Amino acid sequence: MSYYELCNEVAEAIQKAVSGLIGKTEAGVTLRIGADGTPTEKIDETAENAALSVLEKDGRSMRFVSEELGEKTIGKKPEFTFVLDPIDGTFNAVNNIPFFCVPIAIGGSDLSDIRYGYVKNLVSGDIYTAEKGKGAFLNKRKIHVSNVSELSGLSVISYSQRPHAVPINNHKVRRVRVFGCAALELCYVASGIFDAFIDMRSMLRVTDIAASKLIVEEAGGVVTDGKGKPLSTELDVTKRVNMIASNGMVHDKLLELV
Ligand code: IPD
Ligand code: CA
Repeated sequence: MSYYELCNEVAEAIQKAVSGLIGKTEAGVTLRIGADGTPTEKIDETAENAALSVLEKDGRSMRFVSEELGEKTIGKKPEFTFVLDPIDGTFNAVNNIPFFCVPIAIGGSDLSDIRYGYVKNLVSGDIYTAEKGKGAFLNKRKIHVSNVSELSGLSVISYSQRPHAVPINNHKVRRVRVFGCAALELCYVASGIFDAFIDMRSMLRVTDIAASKLIVEEAGGVVTDGKGKPLSTELDVTKRVNMIASNGMVHDKLLELV
């Protein structure tokens, strides 16, 4: 089974398992604090269990890194790390806000070593993929970042809510939007709808961004931390990341702003 097929099977199992929970109060019941330090809600656990049963049947040995359970070794000699956020955009899913997804990355030990990225929009069914060195795709058609180069023309997704974010929200760019699902928002940068994504809250987990980081890079974009350094955070759900992803042309200008 290819990585694409494996990811698809996991995403489909999750989609089926959570379909009756979207927009339901019970979906948002907190069960416990997950391995990542944030609440595990019923919909998160349901999704993670569905993924785990697919992976355990797959037969390959892997290190499974997932937001709620943290980490689990499947089989005896892991061939790769399978990084999953069972649902990215839990708040949206629980409240029937139609913007949530399943992001999956396959890689080694840290964010600099992701080989394959897969993000499925669970509402539209759109699938974004990237394989290192082979480009990025939306529903198997090649995608590319935008080519806007002036700050005044930018459409930006910005989570920065601190004083240093004021210039971004202060009409220096054309549009600022926030949709509440980082993995999909980053895919919007990869496909050129948005020109940049900024999150300087030190809240993003590797599970939120690992897949989309590769998708943005393979679409021709640039991804760094808030200081312009490459991201090489360990694939560990307790770590937190600041991130700027852009079409590349405006990266330095955005780094100056934040
Ligand atoms: C959340 C989303 C959101 C981001 C939050 C994350 P979750 O993930 O990615 O866009 O701003 O920091 O927690 O909790 O829905 O998996
Ligand atoms: Ca999640």
